[in-house]
Amino acid sequence: MDPKGKATLSYAGKTAEFPVYGGTIGPDVIDIRKLYGGTGAFTYDPGFLSTASCSSKITYIDGDEGVLLYRGYPIEQLATNCDFLEVCYLLLNGELPNKDQKDKFDYTVTRHTMVHEQLARLFQGFRRDSHPMAVMVGVVGALSAFYHDSLDITNPEHREISAYRLIAKLPTIVAMAYKYNMGQPFIYPKNALGYTPNFMRMMFGVPAEDYKQNDVLNRALDRILILHADHEQNASTSTVRLAGSSGANPFACIASGIACLWGPAHGGANEAALQMLIDIEKEGGLAKVGEFIKKAKDKNSGVKLMGFGHRVYKNYDPRAKLMQETTREVLAEVGAENDPLLKLAMALEKIALEDDYFVSRKLYPNVDFYSGIVQRALGIPTSMFTCIFSMARTVGWIAQWNEMISDPEQKIGRPRQLYTGAAKRDVTPMAKRK
Ligand code: SDX
Repeated sequence: MDPKGKATLSYAGKTAEFPVYGGTIGPDVIDIRKLYGGTGAFTYDPGFLSTASCSSKITYIDGDEGVLLYRGYPIEQLATNCDFLEVCYLLLNGELPNKDQKDKFDYTVTRHTMVHEQLARLFQGFRRDSHPMAVMVGVVGALSAFYHDSLDITNPEHREISAYRLIAKLPTIVAMAYKYNMGQPFIYPKNALGYTPNFMRMMFGVPAEDYKQNDVLNRALDRILILHADHEQNASTSTVRLAGSSGANPFACIASGIACLWGPAHGGANEAALQMLIDIEKEGGLAKVGEFIKKAKDKNSGVKLMGFGHRVYKNYDPRAKLMQETTREVLAEVGAENDPLLKLAMALEKIALEDDYFVSRKLYPNVDFYSGIVQRALGIPTSMFTCIFSMARTVGWIAQWNEMISDPEQKIGRPRQLYTGAAKRDVTPMAKRK
């Protein structure tokens, strides 16, 4: 990259210059890698509000305009014109596949959907009532115990087969986590089925009868997976990149991403947002919305309007709009268009978007605000919502991890700190301690 200019910093009587780089679109970056060497000071940016950790060609977000592009394509167009595996190919390879490339990609992914039978026995070690995300972290991490033939991250072929295995096996493992929780037998994948129909059958099929596919519901889930596939350097993607920067194998890195995604401030928000709606409904529904909003505005209440607000989007999350449309389609298909939770969510959104507390802080619905309602209508239990999110985000994590491994600028991530602890002092022997 050639610098487009320079930035000058004056500090403690010294002046240092730093190159400024520009991307295709979006904010410039000031390269401060020589800051500590040149001034003896670190930058200080808890939560990385003003820090670019890498350069990337995968996803672009314009938070002010509410724009999301995967490899330059607007999410609205991808969600309407493509299926999830087509978007997986795009995120991994940088271009949309032609018919032959798509067919080959689908064929290869489909033939990696089964898991080792010993992996199925791992589930027996969990309590049946374990949170499925706890099972996901354990089982996905354990994949590295089964694939000694593809753990060399410097080998592009190992990275490719690991990508296929992870994209293909996550739906199988998510469905197994659900079946284990339900006490029902695992349902094996069927190669004759597409990605989403295969997943829905493994989730809701039983050996006692044939599973009846619903194309509207399958298409809705496929779109939900597209909306969640990647999102720039979010917390879980940054976790995967940091884990990968040490040379850890792809299965361990993806397991670290799943662990991070579980948090209620991140991917766990969809579970928390639906629970919030259910709780308000129980307490009186629409009549209680004003009271809830008041709590969400009160710092001391510990209550947040889950599914609202975003570190980057200071406008409507484009995924939330598409999620709301998908919610209406699914509710109509299952005959629940009058779902009280949808009405409640829309009332909450309307009030919040007219309330200065939310408007002044630019808090809008994010991808998680409606996703719980539509997943519940698809028959997916609340505790499984973040598992579905991790299944969708796995391709984004892999694409970002691959990009990091092949980036000549990348090295092991090792941030520093502002130390505010005790200055150097001597140990007082136990006998003399008060
Ligand atoms: C995802 O990064 C990504 O890209 C993530 C994601 C992805 O695809 O990977 O988009 C997925 O994680 C979406 C976000 C899901 N999380 C939630 O919906 C949880 C609720 N939202 C918040 O916790 C919060 O908005 C965050 C965590 C999403 C963003 O937090 P920031 O950027 O650190 O902002 P902040 O917490 O400093 O909030 C700024 C102000 C604060 O008030 P003041 O101190 O200025 O008075 O807004 C308030 C916050 O208290 N605020 C909220 C709020 N979100 C922020 N107040 C009430 N309800 C909320 N939801």
